[in-house]
Order: sequence, then structure tokens, then C-alpha cells
Amino acid sequence: MKIVVTGSKGNIGSAVVDYARSQGAHVLGVDNVGRGDGLGNYIAADLTDLGSCYDVVRGADAIINLAAIPDSKMFPNAQTFMTNVAITYNVFLAAAHLGVGRVVWASSIQVNHTVPPHRPVRYRYFPLDEDHPVDPQSDYALSKYVGEVIADAFARDFGLTTVSLRFTDVVTLQRWPTLPAPVDPGTQYPLPHYVHIHDCARACYLAATAPLPPGSHTVAFIAARDTHIDMPSRELAQRYYPDAELRADIQDHDALISGKRAEAAFGFVPQFSCRSR
Ligand SMILES: NC(=O)c1ccc[n+]([C@@H]2O[C@H](COP(=O)([O-])OP(=O)(O)OC[C@H]3O[C@@H](n4cnc5c(N)ncnc54)[C@H](O)[C@@H]3O)[C@@H](O)[C@H]2O)c1
Repeated sequence: MKIVVTGSKGNIGSAVVDYARSQGAHVLGVDNVGRGDGLGNYIAADLTDLGSCYDVVRGADAIINLAAIPDSKMFPNAQTFMTNVAITYNVFLAAAHLGVGRVVWASSIQVNHTVPPHRPVRYRYFPLDEDHPVDPQSDYALSKYVGEVIADAFARDFGLTTVSLRFTDVVTLQRWPTLPAPVDPGTQYPLPHYVHIHDCARACYLAATAPLPPGSHTVAFIAARDTHIDMPSRELAQRYYPDAELRADIQDHDALISGKRAEAAFGFVPQFSCRSR
């Protein structure tokens, strides 16, 4: 199986490349860093350019699209929004025109919980699931929300099988030993959701390879089964999100986000918890 992984020089992309290769996939990494290796393992391309997109995704069975400006305030607002939407649109269009059957791409928890928020973060209920209304509050969050709309449209109009993975806070190996941690006293709206980078990489691979209904669009949170905050979850919910209804028997440090969709759709069950290692 040939998988094109975009953003392959980035934190998550490099982990996805390693994991997919360990599973026997033939992987072409694409990023706009440096130059290619000339061997077909890595090619440098700016994916805001549609022609380059066509070239690099040709012949793939699936694309895992992680290339993006990964947060607000790194570049001017319009650049973040336009770059991310251009990459997403180009990748989906090239896939549709060239017959690549599946596109998995990185959306974000920030469609629900922008960091830092400009307005209060309101959760109607916990565990949060994919049916909860979104509230993108930044250029970055908006680019991810628009990306989900694009993924939905290409599934409907071109019969592509698409998966929008709403990554939570993806924890790198360097940061892992610092968790769990207290709530930052400077924040009014703590983001209690996280996922270990190795779980995140496996989720991408499963979403790209597991059987899914052709022409479907799946939106799924990718999160650990607990929070990375040392305050018990019920206390955290009541203190910071008092309007939220608790719809499950949440105990100890149980996640306030549901992983049911990712498990049911493509078999993703997180293996890492910052409380057991
Ligand atoms: N890290 C997280 O906690 C997190 C959470 C939610 C979503 N995400 C999303 O996951 C994806 C990967 O994030 P990351 O943390 O690995 O970020 P990263 O910055 O480490 O990786 C992104 C990569 O995309 C590449 N890129 C940017 N513009 C490009 C272009 N025009 N053409 C080709 N490549 C380009 C960059 O060079 C970089 O290597 C992003 O889409 C990000 O928005 C990340």
C-alpha cells in the first residue's frame, strides 16, 4: 500500500511516517523543508501549489495530510487561514481528480476549544463528542473547521472516503514526562484533552487503512482515556464548565471527551495514559 504523508518533517508527520513504515506501507513523505532524497522516500513541495499537489499524490492509495501552519500567532491571521485552507483544498482536489480513494487529514480540538479563546468556552455536555456544536474562535480554528466542510463536500461530490481527525493536544516524547500537571493558574478555560504522539500516529494509520464505507466522511476525536490535569475530572468540569451536563459516570481523571467514534469507525483505542507508564 502506498501512503503519502504530508507535513512529514513535522512532529506528528515524522511519527506517522515511522509508524506506517513499521506496518509495511510504502510511504512518500512530503514537506516544504529542504529538498527531497531523490529516492522516493521524501520530496520537498509547497502544497499551496496545486500543480505540486497533483505531482506528489499521484499513484497513492491514501493520503494522510498533516501539512499546515499548526497554530495561531505564528504568522499573520490571513496567512494561517489561507495557507491551511489552500493545502487542504488542493490535497482533496488532487486526490479526487487522480483517483486516490482516501484522504485522512488533521483537524483539531480547536474547532471546539480555541486556545486561547476570545469568548468563553461553553460545553453543553461531557463527555464531549463529535455531535457537539463547534465554536472556532481563531484564524487557525476556522481553517480547521473549513477543512472539515471541504472533507465533507469531497466525500459527497466525488465519492472520496475522508476522515477528519480532531487531534487533541498531541504530547511529544519530550513533554511526556511533565504530565499530569496542575491547571495553569493563568487560564480560565483549561483544555483537559491530550493524546500521546505514538497513539496519534497509530490513529492516522488506522484511519487510512481500516475498512470504511466508500464515500463517507468520518469526524473523530483522537484523545487519551484520561485528562492530563491532576484535578479530578468532575471537579474540573464543575469548576470551569459549570453549565455542562455530565452524561456519563465520570470518575477520577476520566476523559471529558469521547473516544467512541474513533473506536467504532476505525478501531482506534489509545494505549498511552500519562498516569500509567
Ligand atoms: N500538535 C498538536 O497538538 C496538534 C493538535 C491538533 C491538530 N494538529 C494538526 O496536526 C498537523 C501536524 O501538526 P504538528 O504538530 O506536527 O506541526 P508541525 O509544524 O510540526 O508540522 C507541520 C508540517 O507542515 C509543513 N508545512 C507547512 N506548510 C507547508 C506547505 N505549504 N507545504 C508543505 N508542507 C508544509 C511544515 O514544514 C511542518 O513540517 C497540523 O495540521 C496541525 O494543525 C496538531
